[in-house]
Amino acid sequence: MEFIDLKRQYQAYRDEIDRAISQVIRSGRFVLGQEVNRLEEELSSFTGARHAIGVGSGTDALLLSLMAEGVGPGHEVITTPFTFIATAEVILLLGARPVFVDIDPSSFNMDVKRLKALLEMRQGQGKLPVGIVPVSLYGLCADMDEINALASSFGLFVVEDACQSLGATYKGSSSCNLTGLAATSFFPSKPLGCFGDGGMIFTQDRDKKEVLFAMREHGQTARYRHEVLGINGRIDAIQAAVLRVKLRHFPDEIRARQRLANNYSELLYPLKDHVLAPVTPDGYTSVYAQYTIRIKDGLRDEVARYMNSRGIPTAIHYPLPLHLQKVFAHLGYGPGDFSEAEKASEQVLSLPMHAFLQESEQVQVIGALTDALKKIKKI
Ligand SMILES: Cc1ncc(COP(=O)(O)O)c(C=O)c1O
Repeated sequence: MEFIDLKRQYQAYRDEIDRAISQVIRSGRFVLGQEVNRLEEELSSFTGARHAIGVGSGTDALLLSLMAEGVGPGHEVITTPFTFIATAEVILLLGARPVFVDIDPSSFNMDVKRLKALLEMRQGQGKLPVGIVPVSLYGLCADMDEINALASSFGLFVVEDACQSLGATYKGSSSCNLTGLAATSFFPSKPLGCFGDGGMIFTQDRDKKEVLFAMREHGQTARYRHEVLGINGRIDAIQAAVLRVKLRHFPDEIRARQRLANNYSELLYPLKDHVLAPVTPDGYTSVYAQYTIRIKDGLRDEVARYMNSRGIPTAIHYPLPLHLQKVFAHLGYGPGDFSEAEKASEQVLSLPMHAFLQESEQVQVIGALTDALKKIKKI
């Protein structure tokens, strides 16, 4: 069994994908161009965001979004310590300082009460951060209404790290259309993945769109005319062509993921004293980029080892929160500073999840999990 079976997906769309790729090869236009323009239009209409800017990766999408917000040395940007490294890495790359806010244990996303307390404290000290990068982790949006309201009352920008949440909704609106800017990733294992690296930025703001189009091409506004500092952050045409095929099937895949997630949760019910299934609050739909459970009583690693020995792949997203990573040691955080993120790192376990997973495989996964608990915990 594969954790994410991309080969099954390719087999299902093979003719369409092969045709789309060979069209790009025959066109001789490999970077940006018509395929990218069309993908941008289609994803803008899919999310409802007015503008979409195709870029080289989710990391580029985050980096360029922060560049468009003018982040630089001396600035502080708030994010969560329970995310993939790229979220905070880009803050540091721009010479700014990541400031972490702990997560809400039920959603794994930024805790808005703690965010409010931090902002009030910083206001009292006379030093406010410039922006917030909430992460919509595992495919579930962060509480964007609350975050946007706090941001606007303190005068901060918001960039949604939507690298795991394209296809999710929050109070009837799509992830990537909830904040001033949003960044998503098309890394192959993402809900909408390409055949390499790719990403997209979304915004409502025309001026930001113009500056981002320039920034993804070395700040170029006309051939060899550079008005702003940029990077090589372009997406290539083959990735766009693959994504356009997959986007046509994406709504069906999202429904399949949601059905499979519900199955998992039902199968897990008898284990509820030992295992917590993910919760999707009212008003939210998750795209289940990961189906991540919590295993209580310090048993996670032993359970994972047992499942892996039975041929069931699992993953840990993420085993060490960012405030404890060596690369961020100079920020001065230590163990105990973000106890929910630390606890989550010790308890979470992601189970195989992709739109082509079979129900019989889910039974096998939960069977192995149950056997592991029986063996280790004697339940
Ligand atoms: C939450 C989060 N942020 C940022 C990224 C970076 O995206 P990419 O790998 O496309 O650069 C990822 C992807 O792994 C992610 O999951």
